[in-house]
Amino acid sequence: MQRPVLAANWKMHHGPTDAREFLRTFLQYYPRHGDRQVLFFPSAISLPAVVEGLRDRSDIRVGVQNIHWEDKGAFTGEISAPMARDAGAHLALVGHSERRHVFGETDDETARKVAACGRAHLVPVLCVGETLAEREAGETEAVVLRQLRTGFSLVDAAQVAHAIVAYEPVWAIGTGRTATPADASAVHRAIREELKQLAPERHRAIPILYGGSVNRGNAASLLAATEVDGLLVGGASLDAEGWSAIVRA
Ligand code: PGA
Repeated sequence: MQRPVLAANWKMHHGPTDAREFLRTFLQYYPRHGDRQVLFFPSAISLPAVVEGLRDRSDIRVGVQNIHWEDKGAFTGEISAPMARDAGAHLALVGHSERRHVFGETDDETARKVAACGRAHLVPVLCVGETLAEREAGETEAVVLRQLRTGFSLVDAAQVAHAIVAYEPVWAIGTGRTATPADASAVHRAIREELKQLAPERHRAIPILYGGSVNRGNAASLLAATEVDGLLVGGASLDAEGWSAIVRA
């Protein structure tokens, strides 16, 4: 198995002042570990503070939570992949369920954003996941695999091999309801089968993360589940001490 990936999605929390304070505490609790990859996704406005705070920690990488699909232009309020890269980001979340369900982002838009990541040498973290209604209708796999195929439809196998996939069931995000390790494994297995088609030689290199109400209590058992290569954590990543306990798990 590859190094587990532990990713913090701060959503619309932690401005630059809080971000600096967070890192001062976190770095005391988390000395360099070669056997895992820690990632932070701060808000774009806090990105420079986080990049600066991690200047001496090349073992930790930083990404943005969203990008526009164009490289530049008249898109007030948006940021592009080349800009994110220029500001020190190495990754970008694409198609997070809040982007899809709160802001109406479509599968086709996620595909264009994944392609924009490729052009800017950002690693896309393509997020996929079903709603509760879709799960109850028995459509979990169909929805997740459609999001996966469409999300990667504009890039070639080599670019897919450089991506990360995050399975985040919408019903588990921020709700306190977590998928069981067995539920997560079942969907991750289906994702892995699909990745075999999309990147035949290199699919093993693609980490598949689980996200949705991960916390200190359930992180270790989810991480131990078959085909779970890491975790994407929202609420439980906001507290420096709690997050350091999860990444050390
Ligand atoms: P949560 O969020 O851990 O607060 O459920 C996860 C995510 O949305 O990435």
